[in-house]
This record gives sequence, structure tokens and C-alpha cells, in this order.
Amino acid sequence: MWRVGILTASDKGSRGEREDKSAQVIRDMVASIGGEVVSYHIVPDDLDVLKEILIKMVDQEKLDLILTTGGTGFAPRDNTPEATRAVIQREVPGIPEAMRYESLKKTSRAMLSRAVAGIRHQTLIINLPGSAKAVRECLEVILPVLSHGLEVLT
Ligand code: MTE
Repeated sequence: MWRVGILTASDKGSRGEREDKSAQVIRDMVASIGGEVVSYHIVPDDLDVLKEILIKMVDQEKLDLILTTGGTGFAPRDNTPEATRAVIQREVPGIPEAMRYESLKKTSRAMLSRAVAGIRHQTLIINLPGSAKAVRECLEVILPVLSHGLEVLT
């Protein structure tokens, strides 16, 4: 069983003004590779808040995998890639490359994703887009190979 954490970056969601449908998609889909969501946080799109919670999730919660959702676009408050880059020790470019490559076959807007993936200690962090539909499309691409990566990591 993989210990999975979800970090939702959403100003509206963190104020309780939007239901977090994307987190539910993540929960359902990671179960198919033996992942259990043992940690869930929803925070505003604030760079320092995002960095702090990511560090806490890795260093204290000892998760195998953190999937973030939201905050990867061009809006001034889209800070998830910057927060991720600030806390990872090794970048894993192939994961967002694969997500964008496959997603571009569905929508040319996939090129607007600035998603990042990388490793901090023994935790893999992957940025997913915000919408539930986009989360599903991206997870379909990467889930089949994640177990192998996680096995090597731990
Ligand atoms: N990827 C997939 N597979 N499907 C999508 O609908 N939407 C794109 C992109 N990636 C999309 C996608 C859009 S419109 C944007 S703006 C970026 O992800 C960033 O999304 P975010 O700001 O919600 O993180």
C-alpha cells in the first residue's frame, strides 16, 4: 500500500466556497494502484503556505506520493509549480512531459500547464491541474508507471 497525500491549492476551496471534486477523483484513481489517501490538505494559492505544507507533508507525514491539484496555470495566484520547485531536491521532468504530451491530444490548452514533478527525500511530488476532468486525464497517463518509480524510491 502506498501512502498518498493530496494537496489542493485553491483560494475558493480553502474558504469552503467550492466542493473539491478533484480530490475525490484522485482518491478513487490511486486506489487502483494500491494507493491509500492518508493525508488531505486544502490551502489558499499562497506561495509560502504551499511551501510550508509540502515540507510538512514530506518531512513529518512520510508519504510515498503527494498529488497536488490546482494552481498550475497562468493566473497571478497560480503558485503550485514554484512551491514544488522550491522544496524538491531532484526534478522528474518526464512525468509532466508525459501528461502534457497525452493531454495535448485532447486539448491544446494542455500547453498552458506549468506542472512540475520531483522528489524530496523519499517522497514523489506531482502537480496535477485543477479541474476534475483534467486530473482524471492526467492520472490515466501516469498511474500505470508510478508503482515502479515508487518502488525504486523507497
Ligand atoms: N490537461 C488535461 N489533461 N485536460 C485539461 O482539460 N486543462 C489545461 C491544462 N491541462 C487541461 C489540462 C488548462 S485549461 C490549464 S489553464 C492548465 O492545465 C492549468 O490548470 P490549473 O490552473 O487548473 O492548474
